[in-house]
Amino acid sequence: MEVIILDTEREVAREAADLVAGLVRRTPTAVLGVATGSSPQGIYRELARRVAAGDLSFARARAFALDEYVGLPREHAESYHSVIARDVVAPLGFDADLVRVPDGLDPDTDASTDRYERAIAEAGGVDLQILGIGTNGHIGFNEPTSSLASRTRIKTLAPQTRRDNARFFSSPADVPAHCITQGLGTILEARQLVLVAQGASKASAIAHAVEGPLSSMWPGSLLQLHPHATVIVDEAAASEL
Ligand code: GLP
Repeated sequence: MEVIILDTEREVAREAADLVAGLVRRTPTAVLGVATGSSPQGIYRELARRVAAGDLSFARARAFALDEYVGLPREHAESYHSVIARDVVAPLGFDADLVRVPDGLDPDTDASTDRYERAIAEAGGVDLQILGIGTNGHIGFNEPTSSLASRTRIKTLAPQTRRDNARFFSSPADVPAHCITQGLGTILEARQLVLVAQGASKASAIAHAVEGPLSSMWPGSLLQLHPHATVIVDEAAASEL
């Protein structure tokens, strides 16, 4: 695992954006794995600047989101369908038909999660997966105790994650209780993982991911199993390393 510690959030975003941009310039039809949450926002802003400057194009690239809330209407501003459309598809100029988000509304979750896994496989797998990490070490929405071999499936959100994500909703009770998430086994199959984290609230999760024993209690530690994983953090997120 490569660990890159930088002074500022801006530098973290630029470093990760360089990796994404390098891949998409080499392979315009690359398959990206895109994360939601605050952590990758700077990467998307940095990439959008390069697209606006005419230096980069995502028009032929594909993308798969990591996760989605269950039961939230797609048009809800905080559904990951909306977030990916707003923060990734529009500013980066993806063809919306080439971007998929798990379906949190299909009552037949087994069929819809199987379809999602198949779609990733049919696209040839994910070339580069962008990741954030939860304060409790979750990856995607794979909460502590998730099997390291898990596939895309329905999960219950941990109380800590619902508290962390309450900031996006009008009240904590509005945060959905369930989600669909790519599994840790699914994520591990991406050819490259790039995890970004900023701020002291992520320091413990980063220390467990990078230095802790491999454990389903700290899902971020799965990066230790990956042959091409890069962790890019600011000083605060690196403070327990
Ligand atoms: C969210 C997402 C994850 C994200 C993590 C950290 O709820 N499902 O993909 O990496 O939790 O979020 P943030 O970046 O906002 O701290």
